[in-house]
Amino acid sequence: MAAFKETKFPADAPAAQKALGWVDDRFPLTKLWNDQWGKYYAPKNFNFWYIFGSLAMLVLVLQIVTGIFLTMHYKPDANLAFGSVEYIMREVPWGWLVRYMHSTGASAFFIIVYLHMTRGLLYGSYRKPRELIWLFGFAIFLCLMAEAFFGYLLPWGQMSYWGAQVIVNLFGAIPLIGPDLSLWIRGDYVVSDATLNRFFAFHVIAIPLVLLGLVAAHLIALHEVGSSNPDGIEVKENLGADGHPVDSIPSHPYYTVHDLFGVSVFLLIFSTVVFFAPEMGGYFLEYNNFLPGDSLKTPLHIAPTWYFTAFYSVLRATTADFMWVLMFFVAAYVVFVWLKSRLSSIVKTAIAVIALVAIIGMLPQVLDAKFWGVVFFGGSVVILAFLPWLDKSPVKSIRYRPSWHKYVYGVFFFCFLALGYLGTLPPTEGRTLFSQVCTLLYFSFFLFMPWWSAMGTFKKVPDRVVFHAH
Ligand code: HEM
Repeated sequence: MAAFKETKFPADAPAAQKALGWVDDRFPLTKLWNDQWGKYYAPKNFNFWYIFGSLAMLVLVLQIVTGIFLTMHYKPDANLAFGSVEYIMREVPWGWLVRYMHSTGASAFFIIVYLHMTRGLLYGSYRKPRELIWLFGFAIFLCLMAEAFFGYLLPWGQMSYWGAQVIVNLFGAIPLIGPDLSLWIRGDYVVSDATLNRFFAFHVIAIPLVLLGLVAAHLIALHEVGSSNPDGIEVKENLGADGHPVDSIPSHPYYTVHDLFGVSVFLLIFSTVVFFAPEMGGYFLEYNNFLPGDSLKTPLHIAPTWYFTAFYSVLRATTADFMWVLMFFVAAYVVFVWLKSRLSSIVKTAIAVIALVAIIGMLPQVLDAKFWGVVFFGGSVVILAFLPWLDKSPVKSIRYRPSWHKYVYGVFFFCFLALGYLGTLPPTEGRTLFSQVCTLLYFSFFLFMPWWSAMGTFKKVPDRVVFHAH
């Protein structure tokens, strides 16, 4: 083993420099800082869309810190939970602020993550070599959904109680194991104290641990391959004399300042909501949740919180009548794949066999629409994970795609938002029909992507990133 050599500093060196040197001799603190931020070279043309990664990290920290303080006064007991939240709001000094920061933080987290994912879609950030960054991101998204779902039961209000009841009952639609599975998840025949205790354990420790590990993996993968940019140009392919990409700048101080500006604007908006509209018209905190959970009184309209409603709409759109349309859609898709794809005939046959089994399963005599609703609900989330392999465009960024691709993205975003809005409303015949059309368009966007993403006249991607100094 090499002998331990301590760095020598002149006697008049600042104490802080000596202290840092002492640590660096024993732990790679400066190296870690430089590798991950200080000397991490990032493309110089980042725009507005590149702020959301840092904001997501800020909100993650905010949620953990406010969560710790809430846990000090919250009681995970079906008889005490609702009262303990009221106690936090009325009696604990600054408790109302901590609680509103945490509840607003949950919605802010989803707004930020949805915008972060939209950036990925617009600029093809998930494309090779960033597939793993995307997959870690996708796993983070699943964890966030689980975290929000478990957390929502804790205040034990009417919506907490009945929302959990509805979602856990969905598992009951799985053939054979369904009813036992939902019993196992609840730990009781209805949502009860046992359910509250386990959801609490998942919300405060299990999921946050996984989330933190995944965020670390997300960033390690990002720093391994380097950041992409709005032009979708691989800046590492053009190195300067100093060995760094000519179109890159060190994150510190440049992106430190850029991000601090973004953080200030975010905190301004965040504080406005926390102080003036923490319920956000019932979208961030539902009015029904200010009533204690009552197993004998089902609310007239049960809807999940806004960030789940797009996927929830897909579930509700899957009615028995709509199954016939879906069967036709699956059959038509298989014919399309046979005619248009260059996959080997073995793969095509496998797809046809799977589709045939699915179509048989979709017949009302075999599996009911409720089961398929759950499948499409899950499918509408899981399909996001496949984006890196569905997108066959020769360029990454939307800037250099054919102009009509923008309309395709436009229709997709419209459908996603429409599904989200419809999911907050009680269903009517007209709304169900609208959500069915949006559901078909939502899935078509992904399923036909291997073809439409490669069609049209692409613009020439420049050699250097487009950058205008301010
Ligand atoms: C807790 C949640 C998350 C945190 C803290 C986080 C953090 C970050 C940070 C700091 C960056 C670099 C800065 C930037 O490009 O904005 C980044 C990049 C990226 N993230 Fe996330 N992220 C999260 C969730 C997600 C999700 C849900 C996805 C997608 C499903 C995702 C996909 C990506 C991709 C593809 C990049 C690379 C972008 C590029 O280089 O162009 N992230 N993330």
